[in-house]
This record gives sequence, C-alpha cells and structure tokens, in this order.
Amino acid sequence: MKIIMLGAPGAGKGTQADRIAQEQNIPHISTGDLFRANVGGGTELGMRAKEYMDRGALVPDELTVEMLFDRVAAEDCRDGYVLDGFPRTIPQAEVLKKELEKRGDRVDLAINVDVPDENIVRRMGGRRACPKCGATYHIEHIPPKQEGICDKCGAELIIRDDDKPETVQKRLSVYHEQTQPLIEFYEKEGILRTVDGTKDMEQVFSDIKALFA
Ligand code: AP5
Repeated sequence: MKIIMLGAPGAGKGTQADRIAQEQNIPHISTGDLFRANVGGGTELGMRAKEYMDRGALVPDELTVEMLFDRVAAEDCRDGYVLDGFPRTIPQAEVLKKELEKRGDRVDLAINVDVPDENIVRRMGGRRACPKCGATYHIEHIPPKQEGICDKCGAELIIRDDDKPETVQKRLSVYHEQTQPLIEFYEKEGILRTVDGTKDMEQVFSDIKALFA
C-alpha cells in the first residue's frame, strides 16, 4: 500500500506515519528526516538543503525528488510505504504520479491530518526530536519515559533548528501557499481522507485505522 500524509507542519504527520508503518509493516519515509540525516552527515545535499530548511522554505524540487526516488527504489519499499512530507508541491505530486504510472502503479490513500494554525505553534514549542532514529516526542502530550532521552534508541533528544516560533510562522505560510493545494489535487484523484488531528494521538490513530477497515 502506498500512503501519503498531508497536513501543516506539526500536524502530527510523522507521529501517525510511524504508527501506520508499524501497523502495515511498510517503511515510513520522511523527506524531512532524510534531509536532516544529510545535514547531520555533512553531505553536499545536506549543506544545500540546510540553507532552505533553516529559514522555513522548501528545498528545491529537483533536489527533493531525486532523493525521494532513490529511497523508494530500495528493496524494503517493494510492498509499499508511507510518505511523510512528500509531495509538498503540485509539481512533486505530478512527478510522483507519473513515475508510479510508468510502473502501472498509483498512490492508494492520501491522509490529511487537519490541525488549525493556532494549535500548531503551541505544539512545535514542546516538540523534542531524536537526531538518531527520528522519533518525536512532546514535553506535555507525548513525553519520553526519561526526560531528554529517546525511548527507542537512548540518544539525547534535541529541539529542531526550524522549531523557533518565527521559523514556524514562515513554514505555516509556505504550507498554505505551496502544500495546501495538494488537498484539492488528491480530492480530485478520489483518494483523500481527512482526520481531525486536534484529538489526542491515540484517537487520531484509531480514526486512521478506521480508514483501512
Ligand atoms: P518536515 O520534517 O517534513 O517538517 P514538517 O512537514 O514541517 O512537519 P513536521 O515534522 O514539523 O511535523 P509533523 O506533521 O510530522 O508533526 P509531528 O508528528 O512531529 O520538513 C522539514 C523541512 O525539510 C521543510 O521545512 C523543508 O525545508 C524540507 N522538506 C521536507 N520535505 C520536503 C519536500 N517534499 N520538498 C521540499 N522541502 C522539503 O508532531 C509535532 C509535535 O506535536 C510533536 O511534538 C508531537 O509529539 C506532537 N503531537 C503529534 N500528534 C499530536 C496530538 N494528536 N496531540 C498533541 N500533540 C501531538
């Protein structure tokens, strides 16, 4: 199954994508995590991506698309994947559609995690992320068992560089301008489903599971 997560920055796409991936036994592919791994590894792609990410802008499509298609060509993606953070522009959605069509394939489901802007800034302030395995926590809603330490891999949790309030505002306006039109795109494709992302994490996941029933 090929699933796309849509929603504003901080809507909970990554949190839910991780749960879906475990439930469906398919990989969770986050373009944000792939870029952050490149930044952490000091690669040329990472250095080029960082200048856009730090100011809340999108990384140019040509860098993003190549990185994504390299990843989905891997053996573990044969039975499907959950894409989190891709596509993020109409051209990215069109490239994905075209590439899949070449193989007689298509996206099965686009899940829009709907959270209003006013909830987003509050959420981002409390987010803590694992730089090693990509797990995400929230200091109030989803705290790690031991403060500051990742439950999954034991690494020290960090605050992401792009979670500063002014960068979050910029990311939100980029979202409304460039990514929100994808809701209509996938609605026209007949595969869009929207869940209320303001509910607690377990409830959101159970609403998502109902989509597979
Ligand atoms: P990316 O990493 O994709 O960031 P994003 O889309 O802005 O999304 P986030 O990871 O910030 O949020 P999320 O929706 O996954 O929420 P999360 O589950 O963490 O991209 C970063 C940057 O990389 C972009 O700005 C861009 O520069 C670049 N980039 C990436 N992909 C690109 C592309 N395709 N094209 C071009 N550029 C690209 O949850 C947020 C917080 O809320 C957490 O603390 C979580 O614990 C908490 N939370 C989650 N669910 C709930 C709940 N139900 N109730 C309460 N709290 C909750």
